[in-house]
Amino acid sequence: MTGNIELGIKKIDWAKRLMPVLSKVRERFASERPFENVVFSVTLHVTKETANLVETLRDGGAKVYLTPANPLSTDDDVAEALKSKGVEVRAWRGMSMDEYFGAIDWAHSHSPSILIDDGADSIIRAHEKNIMSKNRVYGALEETTTGVIRIRALEKAGRLMIPVFFVNEAQSKKLFDNRYGTGQSSVDGIIRATSILFAGKKVVVCGYGLVGKGVANRARGLGASVIVTEVSPIRALEAVMDGFTVMPIGEAAKVGDVFITATGNVKAIPYEAVTVMKDGAILANVGHFDVEIDVATLYREAKSINEVKPFVEEIVLPNGRRVYLLAKGRVVNLVLAEGHPPDVMDMSFSNQALVSEHLVKHKGLTPGVYPVPEEIDMLVASTKLRTMGVEIDELTDEQKEYLSSWKT
Ligand code: ADE
Repeated sequence: MTGNIELGIKKIDWAKRLMPVLSKVRERFASERPFENVVFSVTLHVTKETANLVETLRDGGAKVYLTPANPLSTDDDVAEALKSKGVEVRAWRGMSMDEYFGAIDWAHSHSPSILIDDGADSIIRAHEKNIMSKNRVYGALEETTTGVIRIRALEKAGRLMIPVFFVNEAQSKKLFDNRYGTGQSSVDGIIRATSILFAGKKVVVCGYGLVGKGVANRARGLGASVIVTEVSPIRALEAVMDGFTVMPIGEAAKVGDVFITATGNVKAIPYEAVTVMKDGAILANVGHFDVEIDVATLYREAKSINEVKPFVEEIVLPNGRRVYLLAKGRVVNLVLAEGHPPDVMDMSFSNQALVSEHLVKHKGLTPGVYPVPEEIDMLVASTKLRTMGVEIDELTDEQKEYLSSWKT
């Protein structure tokens, strides 16, 4: 725990300048106080952007207990700065898994009414420990695709006990955060860690969902030739028509210089694929969990592992070739860079703040999954446009009538 409070405060203030939509929400919350006496358990990557969300909730009257969404993603300067401002934080970079889940249990022990989560560890833990039997949980908000998939599975199994809002699914969130945010920040993490020139490299992007699309396009923008691997025929076709080369991972493994996983699934890069890679290949993951590259087998089979720079491991394979694993296969954009830029988290976290307010106003919802209300999604998008100085047209009455008519 070596965070520098002053630096943390500067980082949070800098991010605030780039988060005008959230700042507007914060000003309103400070006067209306929608969260008076509401306790939040917040499990998000502890970054300067998250700090601005937490301060927005706090200015609205909330008591917040903050824990990280990944053991390696905490910015210690920010964590210490938040503590100095009186926020309850249990987070530091390099937590063990026991410490990580212990932090979530600690936040849950303060009888939260609202859980904000990223990846669903907090929501699932709340169900496993049934914290709902001891206090009234109004509901939860889920930030990311992996969390949405897990909560859908929980619901399908008939085990979901609270309402959960899928903030990830808001258009003003996922079309921008997942695509442009992850695209830029993952390339940023790889460059900060390795100093490589992307131009001229063969970059293999595993997965062509919104995240994969973002990564592939940023890598191409830097001059790389990008190869995409996919399991979905539709997405593979999209990648082909977007001008990328598509092939199976077994083939891509032989030619790639840099590999980036963005699938949300296990073993997108199986160990066998690593064994055919070129000497010096770089491996990075940007999906939520450290399962997309088969890191466990890689570590087990390694002839040697040497940390050549912080979170850059040189792994010598049994065949004598070296690969460089970044961030231990965890989210490269948060471990080796600063996560998504504030400008894009502005929209994600404005959705989080406004949906929290909505949840407080609708306390008695039945358990289930809920979309972000359309008005909130559109409000975030239109406010963002306004803060960017962009104006758009409005439908005329004639156009509205035309769109609602079946007549030719
Ligand atoms: N997820 C990705 N980037 C993030 C950021 N900057 N803050 C919080 N969560 C994030």
